[in-house]
Amino acid sequence: MASYETLLVEQRGAVTLITLNRPQALNALNSRILADMIAATAAFDADESQGCAVITGSEKAFAAGADIKEMQSQGFADMYSHDFFAGWERVTATRKPIIAAVAGYALGGGCEVAMMCDFILAADTAKFGQPEVKLAVTPGMGGSQRLTRAVGKAKAMEMVLTGRMMDAEEAERAGLVSRVVPAADLIEEAVKTAATIASMAPLAALANKEMVNAAFETGLAMGIQFERRLFHGLFGTEDQKEGMAAFIEKRPGKWTGK
Ligand code: CAA
Repeated sequence: MASYETLLVEQRGAVTLITLNRPQALNALNSRILADMIAATAAFDADESQGCAVITGSEKAFAAGADIKEMQSQGFADMYSHDFFAGWERVTATRKPIIAAVAGYALGGGCEVAMMCDFILAADTAKFGQPEVKLAVTPGMGGSQRLTRAVGKAKAMEMVLTGRMMDAEEAERAGLVSRVVPAADLIEEAVKTAATIASMAPLAALANKEMVNAAFETGLAMGIQFERRLFHGLFGTEDQKEGMAAFIEKRPGKWTGK
């Protein structure tokens, strides 16, 4: 498997565990991390032995934001001509499911990367925030859009305007995270959840992810039609026949991914 300067990547069965590894900067997201993340998520997506990924950081910080030291001297022309941060769209283009396992700080770009994942499992130590306003800027990796969709206007607006952090319990109440677990259990719980997802028929996993994401891009009628067509489409797969036969025969399904 490839090795990366700023990431640790390991496979645990059908689960790829990607650990952000720039501890000296609390995993601040610089161009190197972005390049490594693009490569690691593309490799995960292309590897047929892998069904779900977990992205995590350290106990202290999932990631404390985009790298302020890298951005500080940039001007508008640099940022605009390089379409700074656009590369993260390649990470969100990953078709297989990805879970964010967040302990400690997930601030600015860190919160945004967590929200790029399909759902967030939080340790009870997690802290989420979009503090860019304190640096005289705004979120730039999707935070104003994804946070608002996740927690609604009132809370998102308060968070981006004040820069205050949300703890794990508040984040769960607000719908930003799917579950809170004790910090000591975070990785085990995330990998276990990912293994459950990876054990499903691969095309059904892709289709379920695609469908929920469509809810954020389309109106209700179009979204429901999209769902129904994709549902119909799965009846053209071997795994649908196998899945339903396995249920009737009271045995586990065996998937071919076809
Ligand atoms: N960029 C670059 N370096 C960072 C960083 C960041 N976002 N966050 C932390 N670091 C560095 C610190 O500069 C420090 O390095 P040195 O030892 O060389 O000084 C090291 O990581 C440890 O950080 P602290 O000493 O600050 O640790 P702390 O425990 O006292 O505080 C913290 C932790 C509250 C998270 C604090 O580090 C902090 O506020 N970080 C910045 C948070 C932030 O503003 N994030 C938003 C960035 S902008 C952005 O993300 C734009 C976007 O939309 C994508």
